[in-house]
Amino acid sequence: MTSIATFNAPPYGRSGASLAVVKSGTDEKITRRLRAQYRWLKRFSHNEGIVGVYREVTYPSPHEYGYEMELLTPIPMHKRSLLSDLEPYVSEVLPTLHAVWQCGNLGTSRMCEWHPICEWPEGGPDLHGWWYQIVRDYGRPDECETHGDPTMENVLLRGKRRVLVDPLPDVTSDGRAPSCRALDMGKVLQSLIGYERIRWMGDEPTYPDAVLVHKLRERCTRDCDWHLACWACLFHVRRLIPYQEHMMQFAWLKWLPRIEEMMRELAQL
Ligand SMILES: Nc1ncnc2c1ncn2[C@@H]1O[C@H](COP(=O)(O)OP(=O)(O)O)[C@@H](O)[C@H]1O
Ligand SMILES: [Mg+2]
Repeated sequence: MTSIATFNAPPYGRSGASLAVVKSGTDEKITRRLRAQYRWLKRFSHNEGIVGVYREVTYPSPHEYGYEMELLTPIPMHKRSLLSDLEPYVSEVLPTLHAVWQCGNLGTSRMCEWHPICEWPEGGPDLHGWWYQIVRDYGRPDECETHGDPTMENVLLRGKRRVLVDPLPDVTSDGRAPSCRALDMGKVLQSLIGYERIRWMGDEPTYPDAVLVHKLRERCTRDCDWHLACWACLFHVRRLIPYQEHMMQFAWLKWLPRIEEMMRELAQL
C-alpha cells in the first residue's frame, strides 16, 4: 500500500545515518494513516523496540505525505515464516508492547463500541455471541494504547534487536479497532497460528506452540484480556479475509472453524 524509498543521508548528527522514507502517494486514506503513524511513532520514539522517526516530509500536493525513519533490516521471508523463529519474536516484542500499554494506560478514557466490528464480514463463527459471553463472564477490557498490527511482517531488525514498524493507530473512532491489550495480543496469536505461512506458503493453520502461548498468557493480569486475545485472533483473521486473493478467501473460510476451536481451547488456559 505504501511505498518505501531508501537513501543515505548524513543529517541529524549521526554521520552516515541511513534513512527509510515512507511516502503516501495521493491516496487520502493512506495519507491520513501515515500522519497518524508518524505521531504514534514520535510519541514512542524513546522505546527501543519501536522504529525511530526523524521528521515529516511534505510535498507540493496536500495529498502527498511522508516521514523519515531509521533504516532497519527486514527479516528474510523464509526465516519469518519458520515457527522456530517465533520465540525470540514473542519474548522481545511483547515487552515492547507491554511498555506501550503502560504508557497507554495513562491515556484515554473513551469507551469504544465493539458491536460494529463483530458484524463484519458475514459468515463464520459467532464473534458477536462470544464477545458478549466474555464481557458477561469477565468484564469489559481496560482501554489502552495499542500498536494495532504487531504481526511478524512488521518486525524488522536493528542489529539483533527486533523492532516494530507500521503501527495502526485507532484514528477512525468508528469502533472498528478497539483499543485494548487483547487487540495486539490477538495479532501475535495470529502469527503464532501461522498466518504468514498460511498466506505466503499455502500451509494450514497450526496449533500454537505451548511455551509461546504460556508466555503470552502470563502477560495477562486480567482474565478478560486473555479471553479477548483469543477472540481477537479469530476476529483479525476473519476481518482480513476480504483482503486475500480469491482462492485464499475460500481457504480461510474453510479454516475459520478450526481456528475458532483452537482459540476457544486456548482461552480456557
Ligand atoms: N524502517 C524501515 N527500514 C527498512 N525497511 C522498512 C522500514 N519500514 C518498513 N520497511 C519495509 O517495508 C515493508 C512495508 O512497510 P510497512 O510500514 O509495514 O507498510 P505496509 O505493511 O502498510 O505496506 C516492511 O515489511 C519492510 O520490509
Ligand atoms: Mg506492514
